[in-house]
Amino acid sequence: MTSMTGAANLLAALPGRYYTDPAIFELDERQIFRRSWLCVGRADALSEPGRYRRIELGEESVLVVRGRDGELSAFLNLCRHRGAQLCSEESGSFSRTIRCAYHSWSYGLDGRLLAAPNMRDMPDLVRADYGLHPVRAEQWLGYLWLNLDPEAQQLAAQVEPQLAERLGDGVLERYGIERLGVAATIDYSVAANWKSIIENFMECYHCASIHPELTAALPQFRSGYGTISDGMAAGASFAEHVDGFSLSGRATHPRLPGLGPSDDRLFYGLVLRPNVLLILVPDHVALYRLEPLGPGHTRVTVDWLFDRDTMAGDGFDATDAIALLDITNRQDFDACERCQRGMRSAAYSGVLVPAEHVITDFYAQYLAAIGEHPAGSPRERG
Ligand code: FES
Ligand SMILES: [Fe+2]
Repeated sequence: MTSMTGAANLLAALPGRYYTDPAIFELDERQIFRRSWLCVGRADALSEPGRYRRIELGEESVLVVRGRDGELSAFLNLCRHRGAQLCSEESGSFSRTIRCAYHSWSYGLDGRLLAAPNMRDMPDLVRADYGLHPVRAEQWLGYLWLNLDPEAQQLAAQVEPQLAERLGDGVLERYGIERLGVAATIDYSVAANWKSIIENFMECYHCASIHPELTAALPQFRSGYGTISDGMAAGASFAEHVDGFSLSGRATHPRLPGLGPSDDRLFYGLVLRPNVLLILVPDHVALYRLEPLGPGHTRVTVDWLFDRDTMAGDGFDATDAIALLDITNRQDFDACERCQRGMRSAAYSGVLVPAEHVITDFYAQYLAAIGEHPAGSPRERG
């Protein structure tokens, strides 16, 4: 897949079926999304004991519950009796138990089966064997992460190598994401495959064409090579006349508490496979969550995170800051949608130019994850 085409500086793009074929989408679900830690939303929405959220992960429905002891538990939203879904509300509060509305089996907030009607007639019903199916859950960056694979390693094993490769030690920690508050959230419904959205985020060859606002702030991106194309991110610098990462170019908020003057004019973009993109700028962070809904449909939820004290201050207004990325997102997603339509053509076969060669790293990781190995070796790292 990454072998050279006729011209040595052009590499073959993945064939269109990887973006359009329902069978490959199922493979992605089975091999990647059912086996990886997925960021599913903010953890602080579940602060009170008894609060729950229902989260749909592909074909599975998961309940995440804050127990009386303050611990979070997650389990499949699936009654062990005959499989009724226990909860259809998106969120809410349980009193003491979770009761199935069909035949009234009831479970504790930790998922244990507590009682079933006529239990005395069923000595074979060993309660310990009929608890709700547990789902792995962790909290990190103030977000809740779930993994449907009971055998999966800890979340750290998934994210730490990616952080070490892209950002180096200690950079992400300085942004203190777990302490930030959400100033705004926008949901984008994108008619494109999830992989296209990641690939588009990785390359900056398109920036000069479609992102006039972004390249006004980050002139280095006009070259076609963004920070992500450079191997280890040094961070892209703001343009001389630009003081902050906002549509107007004005610095609208003080820098985040963990940062210093050397961070003041830097932009980092980062992929945390498989479903998170992060943008770090001096006064805020944007966290993108990708939720694949079909071969040609992905929901992207973006949170804009600011320092809580700054947000509590008089006249806090993030509109200018949000506008720059929101415009950029819409430009990106529109381009991904146009590719999605083109990739359905029997004639489609794309190439990657040198500024896009970084995408072959993603291909290699992706193909290995779905059990296909690329024909050639991944791009040599410079
Ligand atoms: S399906 Fe839940 S109690 Fe019967
Ligand atoms: Fe872009």
